[in-house]
Amino acid sequence: MEPAWIAPSILSADFARLGAEVDAVLEAGADVVHFDVMDNHYVPNLTIGPMVCEALRKHGVKAPIDVHLMVSPVDRIVPDFAAAGATYISFHPEATAHIDRTIALIREHGCRPGLVFNPATPLDYLDYTLEYLDLVLIMSVNPGFGGQQFIPTTLRKLSEARRRIEASGRSVRLEVDGGIKASNIRAVAQAGADTFVAGSAIFGSADYGRTIREMRQQISSAA
Ligand code: DX5
Ligand code: ZN
Repeated sequence: MEPAWIAPSILSADFARLGAEVDAVLEAGADVVHFDVMDNHYVPNLTIGPMVCEALRKHGVKAPIDVHLMVSPVDRIVPDFAAAGATYISFHPEATAHIDRTIALIREHGCRPGLVFNPATPLDYLDYTLEYLDLVLIMSVNPGFGGQQFIPTTLRKLSEARRRIEASGRSVRLEVDGGIKASNIRAVAQAGADTFVAGSAIFGSADYGRTIREMRQQISSAA
């Protein structure tokens, strides 16, 4: 299993001060920046695109940027995010016509591909894709908004995804996204996640460093 990564979702950051907010969470101990892209079509909300990713790189952000695409179509925007400095690019299988082609496209552009599973989407999409992926992202809420409640069936889905990753023998990150906080992160780690997205729990807290430390303590207590 990979070392645990905390991935604050900037969806809950103060967008008027985005550069400073990202600096602050990284200084507070975050490992990666989770970057939620919504198009008001695949999901009922609209957020940020490649220009903002590029602006963060120009601002000096060196940490991996974990781009979570909630857009349809997917392929058109992949090269733009690669040029804008994305590290990981993940997408939802329902949002693209040719999943294998989209994975290859992300890889060809020098980024690490991830596949995202909505709460009701079965893991079958991994049958013929896992060997090409660097990340599996399990949604623990329906995509579109921050601040929602964690959906409990996520735990058995994480265990099943962990089993598949171990069986593959490859190093693939298992990420969980939605409703994660210090009070449930231990259970999620026990189920097999190694990469933890948290938006409102971190950016809604008074002390980012303290919240991230609490999360790490809970994760280590799961080991
Ligand atoms: C939801 C996004 C999440 C969201 C998580 O569609 O993919 O990354 O920001 O927010 P919290 O941690 O508040 O549930
Ligand atoms: Zn996300």
